[in-house]
Amino acid sequence: MTWHRKHLLDIESLSASEIMTVLDTARAFKAVGTRAIKKVPALRGKTVVNLFVEPSTRTRISFELAEQRLSADIINFSAEASSLKKGETLKDTARNLEALNADMIVMRHSASGAPHFLARFLRASVVNAGDGAHEHPTQALLDTFTVLEKKGKVAGLNVTILGDILYSRVARSNIWALTKLGAKVTLCGPSTLVPRVFEEMGCRVTYDVEEAIREADIINLLRIQHERQRKTMFPGIGEYASLFGLSKARLARTKPDALIMHPGPINRGVEIDSEIADCGRSVILDQVTNGLAVRMAVLFLLNGGKGPQEIAI
Ligand code: CP
Repeated sequence: MTWHRKHLLDIESLSASEIMTVLDTARAFKAVGTRAIKKVPALRGKTVVNLFVEPSTRTRISFELAEQRLSADIINFSAEASSLKKGETLKDTARNLEALNADMIVMRHSASGAPHFLARFLRASVVNAGDGAHEHPTQALLDTFTVLEKKGKVAGLNVTILGDILYSRVARSNIWALTKLGAKVTLCGPSTLVPRVFEEMGCRVTYDVEEAIREADIINLLRIQHERQRKTMFPGIGEYASLFGLSKARLARTKPDALIMHPGPINRGVEIDSEIADCGRSVILDQVTNGLAVRMAVLFLLNGGKGPQEIAI
């Protein structure tokens, strides 16, 4: 299908064919990344602002590299060194960036809905790089791209997402993407962090970790997001690691070809044993690699690109 959207704010509003257009375009950009000259002129003359008001390593640097590979002019906005600290509003900040002719704003914010708010009045395209506990659309797209690349399909796969689901924007975006593409999604973790209301999104909830991982083709581990929790949701880190962490003993009880995913940052020894994070079944760094191609695809499509057919392989 041909892409028509101006913003990427969430996965919930995308159709399965729109998701596939991003993934197909990302595959073409991944091939571009194997060339001697990895840069293309798709965003030449365009200005992209990376407006990160919350910490980030992977998302921020891979968006910046994606913008460089697409030949954009880049402004990296540092919230700590900005006039946000003097009380300037987000709306005024964004309007000032637009006054400098920003064409795209890639935004991370602790408030759910902040990118949607900016998209209502800005001329520039807005890309959600993570908003509170709501969504992290490019993470879900790169996760789904990695599943498709490693398993050759998404439909029919058993995907278990294990950890802090309640406070996770990654979980919400993954649930939307995976269920739209036909995967069977199981959620597992402490009952305080995996409320049954998530079943309304079309997935299964279980509190039995052994059962959740036994038939999984993909096990996607999420860290405990203390930064968003206003009260203690479980007795302690040690107890969490023992009850829900992916240990070597637990890994031995999974399918031999089950893949281990994690959006990062990982907490070794908590949600994942250190050795498992680095083992052959871990695709954690492949996810990071694929983030570059996926973010190039998103920026290309939002700038008027129609799909993978426009990228010369
Ligand atoms: N996965 C992810 O969003 O990581 P960062 O917070 O480092 O960007």
